[in-house]
Amino acid sequence: MSAPRRYLMCPPTHFRVTYSINPWMDPAKPVDLPLAVTQWERLRDLYRSLGHTVEELVPDPDLPDMVYAANGALVVDGRVLGARFAHPERAGEAVAHLEWYRAHGFTEIREPEHINEGEGDFAVTASWLLAGRGFRSSPLSHPEAQEFFGRPVVGLDLVDPRFYHLDTALCVLDDSRDDAVMYHPAAFSPGSRAVLARLFPDAIVVGEADARAFGLNAVSDGHHVLLPQAAVGLFEPLRERGYEPIGVDLGELLKGGGSVKCCTAELRS
Ligand code: ARG
Repeated sequence: MSAPRRYLMCPPTHFRVTYSINPWMDPAKPVDLPLAVTQWERLRDLYRSLGHTVEELVPDPDLPDMVYAANGALVVDGRVLGARFAHPERAGEAVAHLEWYRAHGFTEIREPEHINEGEGDFAVTASWLLAGRGFRSSPLSHPEAQEFFGRPVVGLDLVDPRFYHLDTALCVLDDSRDDAVMYHPAAFSPGSRAVLARLFPDAIVVGEADARAFGLNAVSDGHHVLLPQAAVGLFEPLRERGYEPIGVDLGELLKGGGSVKCCTAELRS
């Protein structure tokens, strides 16, 4: 029903919230680390039970955000565009990801010139790259990605600091097509909203409550859509379109400003 995917994840062994680089992060709020680990392991095991492969990065004790593996690179057609983080707190993650790719047989690797936070700000459809900018990734990372991957980039302007990465505001539901997404319009500038409406007339349009529950921070294999279970308004629209939504609780990782998608990098061959 869905072809097996290959994902890269990083266990939250050293996860904590000691700095704040997005509005969700409050260092005063305690994190239940054992619970974070359990929630993360459930997600990993769920992917495996669906037939997907999950590779694991070795977590670095000095990089508490490393659990958000989606930000470490963008991999399409076996080509790897490394990340370059906007905040110094996360800079070391880019190095760890590049090392992993070099050690795992990837040969087409680019160390980026411009700031980009990997799949945090890039989403992949059958023929395009959708690319966010405004809070993290530099607008200059868009032409850099287009040149490297040879795929047209659609640049989208993010305007709400709560939805600081594209993957908090938009999700591609079927990457064998160019028209299957869900998104939260208010996260985008008026012009970008118009672009999205034009490109995706049949999109699932997601409201404030489900976006705030990180419902767009979902991973689809083209059939199963793994998403935060608190995004209750998305289950029915997904089912109506033939997808099988699967609710996941990553409540502890939400305290760092990420959920299902942030924890999951896809290795596209
Ligand atoms: N604390 C991390 C940051 O602010 C969370 C990253 C979430 N990842 C994502 N793909 N949106 O950078």
